[in-house]
Amino acid sequence: MSVTIPPVVEMEHISKSFPGVKALDDVRFSVFPGEVHVLLGENGAGKSTLMKILSGVYTKDSGEIRIAGDPVELHNVKDAMHQGIRIIYQELNLLNNLTVAENIFIGEEPRTRGIIDWKKMFTESQKLLDGLNLSIDAHQKVSELPVGQQQMVEVAHAVSKEAKVIVMDEPTSALSSKEIKELFTTIRKLQKRGVGVVYISHRLEELLEIGDRVTVFRDGQYIGTRNVREEDGSIKIQLNDLITMMVGRSLDQQFPKVKFTPGEETLRIENLQTEEKLRGCSLSIRKGEILGLAGLMGAGRTELARAVIGADRITGGSVYRGGKRLRIRNPGDAIAQGIGYLPEDRKLHGLVLELDVAKNITLTGIKRIISAFCLSLKKERKEALNLVGELRIKTPSISQQVRYLSGGNQQKVVVAKWLFANSDILIFDEPTRGIDVGAKVEIYRLLNTLVEAGKTVMIISSELPEILGMCDRIAVMREGNIVKEFLRADATQDAILKYAIGAEA
Ligand SMILES: Nc1ncnc2c1ncn2[C@@H]1O[C@H](COP(=O)(O)OP(=O)(O)OP(=O)(O)O)[C@@H](O)[C@H]1O
Ligand SMILES: [Mg+2]
Repeated sequence: MSVTIPPVVEMEHISKSFPGVKALDDVRFSVFPGEVHVLLGENGAGKSTLMKILSGVYTKDSGEIRIAGDPVELHNVKDAMHQGIRIIYQELNLLNNLTVAENIFIGEEPRTRGIIDWKKMFTESQKLLDGLNLSIDAHQKVSELPVGQQQMVEVAHAVSKEAKVIVMDEPTSALSSKEIKELFTTIRKLQKRGVGVVYISHRLEELLEIGDRVTVFRDGQYIGTRNVREEDGSIKIQLNDLITMMVGRSLDQQFPKVKFTPGEETLRIENLQTEEKLRGCSLSIRKGEILGLAGLMGAGRTELARAVIGADRITGGSVYRGGKRLRIRNPGDAIAQGIGYLPEDRKLHGLVLELDVAKNITLTGIKRIISAFCLSLKKERKEALNLVGELRIKTPSISQQVRYLSGGNQQKVVVAKWLFANSDILIFDEPTRGIDVGAKVEIYRLLNTLVEAGKTVMIISSELPEILGMCDRIAVMREGNIVKEFLRADATQDAILKYAIGAEA
């Protein structure tokens, strides 16, 4: 990166308010051609808002934007696209019932004499997908793809046209490690072509791998910008310094694990099978225990959880609670039996975006309140308010519609919802996906509080440090089977991975 080339994007003195929230307060940000500039900050810090201003989704209240040195006004998405700005949104933005190719070329379909050239569209899309090493068929409907592949379609969409700047807002949150590798290869290719990349992620290790510079926001304010590397390419930045910049204090403990005192068995799964995936899984979990379910994406971890709570039909096996065999036909039965499941895809299964924070939190627990013989709205809202405080959910009030919360804060609402539901057995599927470092520690502390209160917790996670840091026992899944169990003391990242990929022998 040469210092004589001007930045392709410069944003200065940018401010933006929403009702009740100052999302951005006089911030600045710039991107050079060919650099990957990482934007860091806690949930609700204003990262997505700034990038939506750059891509014309929101208009700034004040400040200046310059593209390649020239001041511009970006009134809408078209303006921004015209300036060569492309964005992959944090929330998936695809049209599910259209094909992959249609999504890639939406609004810009290749035409011959005014008529959409379908053949060209499909071949060009396929070329693009193959070039990204994705095994995705351009003819497939987006709804038929797993979330990770949908995210890669977004990437394909963004790189399909000549772009000067590509913004990636948490692109890896649902990607498998193989897909992440492909994404990074793509980013490096873009860099070579002189494209500037803005990269937002809560996974700090990604910053070390892909970042050139990093800027930190906190509570809508600009905190600072640092170089990630030395001149020779070696890593210069200290993660601890970045964390301090992000949260305003240092975090002494990333995984505040408490000692586990095993109680009696609470949940037992015997030989569980489903048509699709599970090939006979058995597990036993005790009161006060945190069990981690590790494995690669597609190994069957989510399917196991869904089978337990009755969301998928089981073709064999049984589930016991406290030694008693359960008859769970649907998630409602599971809730009634005190088993709660926090899904990985919060948008789809976890939240009602049009309802406010309080309603979302209290939705599952409604039975609990009714059963106390008085549906007390006041009580309900008070408890919601407590949870919002405990989890430090950033919202102007509990009456705010959930759709207006930042991505990470939406995730916290899902967590609050299940805490409110008062389940004894809680299955968390990727509980900290998209959650900032500080809030992660809060969620871990909460898990501690839960198990100390005698609850049973199962965590499905793709982040091995989290599994190793917080779980008393770790079960590894591969191809629909549980292939290994580790005690906390015996588990290492390498050993887990070996079993996960089937290279243990
Ligand atoms: N359309 C909107 N209406 C009202 N408030 C909004 C809107 N969009 C964002 N906000 C608020 O602005 C603040 C910044 O949100 P933003 O989405 O930019 O955070 P973020 O840094 O991207 O967080 P995350 O890491 O959780 O994605 C938050 O308090 C959020 O609730
Ligand atoms: Mg965001």
